Amino acid sequence: MLSNQAGDEKRTSLHGHWSSRMAFILAVTGSAVGLGNIWKFPYIAGQNGGGAFVLVYLVCVIVIGMPVMMSEILIGRRGRRNPVATMELLGKEEGSSGNWRWLGGLGVMAGILILSYYSVIAGWTLAYVVKSATGVFVGATAEEVGAEFGGFVGSWKAITLCHTLFMALATFVVARGVERGIEQAVRFMVPALLILMLVLLGYSMSSGYFGQGVAFMFTPDFDKLTWGSVLAALGQAFFTLSIGMGAIMAYGAYLPEETSITGASAAVVTADTSIAILAGLAIFPLVFANGLDPADGPGLVFQTLPLAFGQMAGGMFFSTIFFVLLSFAAWTSAIGLMEPAVAWLVEHYNRSRTQATIIVGGVIWLIGMGSVLSFNVLADTKFLAGTLFDNIDYLTSNIMLPLGGLLITVFAGWVMCRNSTSDELGSSGTLYKAWRMLARFVAPIGILFVLINAVT
Ligand code: PHE
Repeated sequence: MLSNQAGDEKRTSLHGHWSSRMAFILAVTGSAVGLGNIWKFPYIAGQNGGGAFVLVYLVCVIVIGMPVMMSEILIGRRGRRNPVATMELLGKEEGSSGNWRWLGGLGVMAGILILSYYSVIAGWTLAYVVKSATGVFVGATAEEVGAEFGGFVGSWKAITLCHTLFMALATFVVARGVERGIEQAVRFMVPALLILMLVLLGYSMSSGYFGQGVAFMFTPDFDKLTWGSVLAALGQAFFTLSIGMGAIMAYGAYLPEETSITGASAAVVTADTSIAILAGLAIFPLVFANGLDPADGPGLVFQTLPLAFGQMAGGMFFSTIFFVLLSFAAWTSAIGLMEPAVAWLVEHYNRSRTQATIIVGGVIWLIGMGSVLSFNVLADTKFLAGTLFDNIDYLTSNIMLPLGGLLITVFAGWVMCRNSTSDELGSSGTLYKAWRMLARFVAPIGILFVLINAVT
């Protein structure tokens, strides 16, 4: 089958293009690096027993994450529209069916659902900027830091305020469009975040428990590994790389023709994984040094790090900077979560970007109230995976993203013809063949295998 697009004018996106290759890498890195690396990775690893989980996570990132990311970018760039329209267009163009748009729709939904709770946690980081700057954690004991956290999330009014503030910030940047804002923020945030993680690492190395932390993260105990935790590792790989829901597809739509997709993907995957591993190395020694429980759940980072900062010289300063950076990281990720829904509303319903963003932001805010209440008023209302927050998290990370990724690789590997994909990826022999092997066989079969084993 010949690609219809070849010979036609190359498409351009309605929403503008990245000003350079670096701008794209920064934007995708900004989307990938977020609460997933620093807040979620440590607590999920802790809940799933450490070592073996981390190993499975790394394998998932490389053999599944990388090909899915490349597939998403190439689909996005080829379609140059929002994920729903791109999937419909390419589905028809590749001689399959316009119904592939439902895959785009699944991604739009996943983005909305993820941001609904992501914004709640991001709101906590905003509050922790203020708490840090006003010296709440200076010299605090583990009990005091724990009580502070418990009291804070126990108050639905306090965390509603923070959730609202964060959604307002996210809505503001997305309304301004893709080029302004994101680039500036990320260019400074990712390096600064790396430096602060290294400071924290230095501190945790001097805690006397570094060895124990490293052992917890890297000594695989396969007896502890269940299919449930393999699925959690797979879900975490998708979540942290922002793949499986069209965010990267939407960003790919604004990517200039000449940029290498493989190179950009490798850079993003490396940066994202390094920051997660660093976060784990900084956090677990502190968990053990303070007699905390690594399986403590979503509050883990909000309890260990303030405690460490509180005991450090200049801790008030570092702690404030850290939470500012984490808020920035969450902010640049939130943009990616909103972009598919906003781009879709703009193109499909002819809305202005501002209108579309406000509508999407409002809907997400409302759904997010369910997660706000999951930490206080509805904390004891549990079903299936736990609270409403737990269920939205489980449904999105462990079901919707892997399913999205599975269908994306099936589309790129089986539905799209060889000419189309090699045109986008540049058929540099071995690398292209490796991608195609992973996208056609390894990723889809791997995802399906894990999903089936974990749910049965
Ligand atoms: N990758 C982001 C993080 O780690 C979350 C995210 C998921 C962002 C999906 C965009 C799309 O925090």
